[in-house]
Amino acid sequence: MKFFVDTADIDDIKDLAATGLLDGVTTNPSLVKKAGKDFIPLIKEICDVVSGPVSAEVAATDYETMRKEAEVLRKIADHVAVKVPLTPDGLKVCKELSDDGTMVNVTLCFSPSQAILAAKAGAAFVSPFVGRLDDISSDGLSLISDIVRIYENYDYFDTEVLVASVRNPLHIVESAKMGAHVMTAPPSVIAQLYKHPLTTSGLAAFVEDWKKTGQSIL
Ligand code: G3P
Repeated sequence: MKFFVDTADIDDIKDLAATGLLDGVTTNPSLVKKAGKDFIPLIKEICDVVSGPVSAEVAATDYETMRKEAEVLRKIADHVAVKVPLTPDGLKVCKELSDDGTMVNVTLCFSPSQAILAAKAGAAFVSPFVGRLDDISSDGLSLISDIVRIYENYDYFDTEVLVASVRNPLHIVESAKMGAHVMTAPPSVIAQLYKHPLTTSGLAAFVEDWKKTGQSIL
């Protein structure tokens, strides 16, 4: 499973890139607002740190303007994935960019039928939002399962399932069991993946016992 981080915070991105476990970055207009920096230079800065796909979202919702914005975004770097909303205009932009060799991430996917459309439009990634579905008492993870199963039926669908709106480690583990290709999570959720109380207590005991041996490896 590929790991993307869902943030526009450059310091967090640098920290995660240093782990060697980071495969890409996703941003959205809300995350850019939170970062409080100019969008285009910020995406460029992120692209300089991470060599994998960096999702940058269009701001407009009409075809003409989205298309122009996409041209600006895809020129930032070859590994920019232009993010478009799952709308008729968004998918039209997706098809054109994909046919032209640009990665597109289709966002705001909440149903299997929408995911089929994204694949037919040639998206590199489709982003189903598990957490936001859970928030309205719908089962976000069952959407992941449905999309993975559907895509497996058609080997000409090259779209990767990018699990988004991830709120906890279980979203990641269950999605991995289902065979989702990618997950994007905030840095706080990625940090939780490392944690287990038995790791903490086990390490503390090993450190204490090692001290008692009076030895040093170095
Ligand atoms: O970037 C898209 C998605 O991951 C947003 O997540 O937490 O705002 O629902 P969230």
